[in-house]
Amino acid sequence: MMLIRGRVLSFHADPAEVEDSFIYIENGAVVVDGGRVAVVGEYANLRRDGVEEIDHRPHLILPGFIDPHIHFPQVQVIASWGAQLLDWLRDYTFPEEARFADADHAARMAGAFLDQLLNNGTTTACAFGSVHPGSVDALFTAAESRGMAMLGGKVMMDRNAIPAVQDTAQSSYDDTKALIDRWRGRGRLTYAITPRFAITSTPEQLAAAGALAAEYPDLPVQTHLSENLAEIDYTLSLYPQASDYLDVYDRFGLLGPRSLMGHAIHLSDREIARMAETGTRAIHCPTSNLFLGSGLFDEAGLRKAGVLTGVATDVGGGTSYSMLQTLNESYKVLQLRGQNLPALQAFHWATRGNAIALGMEERIGTLAPGSDADMVVLDARATPAMALRAERIETLAEELFLLQIMGDDRAVVQTYVAGRGMKPG
Ligand code: GUN
Ligand code: ZN
Repeated sequence: MMLIRGRVLSFHADPAEVEDSFIYIENGAVVVDGGRVAVVGEYANLRRDGVEEIDHRPHLILPGFIDPHIHFPQVQVIASWGAQLLDWLRDYTFPEEARFADADHAARMAGAFLDQLLNNGTTTACAFGSVHPGSVDALFTAAESRGMAMLGGKVMMDRNAIPAVQDTAQSSYDDTKALIDRWRGRGRLTYAITPRFAITSTPEQLAAAGALAAEYPDLPVQTHLSENLAEIDYTLSLYPQASDYLDVYDRFGLLGPRSLMGHAIHLSDREIARMAETGTRAIHCPTSNLFLGSGLFDEAGLRKAGVLTGVATDVGGGTSYSMLQTLNESYKVLQLRGQNLPALQAFHWATRGNAIALGMEERIGTLAPGSDADMVVLDARATPAMALRAERIETLAEELFLLQIMGDDRAVVQTYVAGRGMKPG
């Protein structure tokens, strides 16, 4: 048993929907037992003689950040110059992902990737691997040794790429099944069925992905949807029977509450209504959408239609591992759409909101008793510029907004995974 002391903040509802949405305890503490949150409350009520204490005052303690869309084999693609999606994939991304055929390379990158997440306060991610099953073995091995709740899968891609990163419909089905069998029930790991996107899959392969989704209805399905206008045109030329991009996935049984659609920017009213009807999630990737010039996510429109959304880095199209920086760019994207992102709503999104997007809110994303003790400790005065601004702060919302706009890994004091401090360095 252990007591972690600080200013505790955890959401139990979306501040955009209801007023009573969070608990905030100024002189608070989280008691951790067996890797889980035992109780959250006033420090004075929870302290016990003989129980180890870690004092993080005056910093904030929140549930760890969750990143529901990120590419682990792109740690050396991030910051590749001058292209939009399809050229960027061809010129930088596919050649780099080809290197993950080498198990040693994959293992080194997996460790570096998870350390980047932990350095930034991210305790769970849903990751795309490369086409090689070994990339998932490397990721899950590294996650298991760190005790992290990690989701991921090998990308299924059998056309429109270099041969080094292509599989076949049959091999992608067989390899995915073998990975599911190998990793099921181990650690805190969840396999995600991962057809990369419609352009790199034949109809036979999307059918295989749909068959896997039907065989394993509890497993998430992750892919990309309507990120870029040229991508949409190309997709519709490859699938002429489909009424729109979403319909391609719909025809193969790939929609539903376990399905995560990265980007989901350029959508028709029909597609938005169908996403809401099927419970399909839309994942906003703001730094990537700006970097690749893809477009501006319609948060308010999706919310109004009843589509559940998450917010993610999408490294290496995304430009930062930091969920704080991701919320910063998200604020600016929504400004450009005449929408808004209040700080409380932003921090809910990156924690409980993303847990809901992944269907994991019973385990992570809040500090409710019984949930896994994954936490981030944040310092709103982490840099001289932040400290200067913080002198004029009076409310929790103002402090969170400063973290959202100016924060990054320097504002992350500690990252707890199942109660263990894991911030590198
Ligand atoms: N669409 C298909 N693959 C990718 C990828 O790796 N990154 C992004 N941003 N979009 C994709
Ligand atoms: Zn992506």
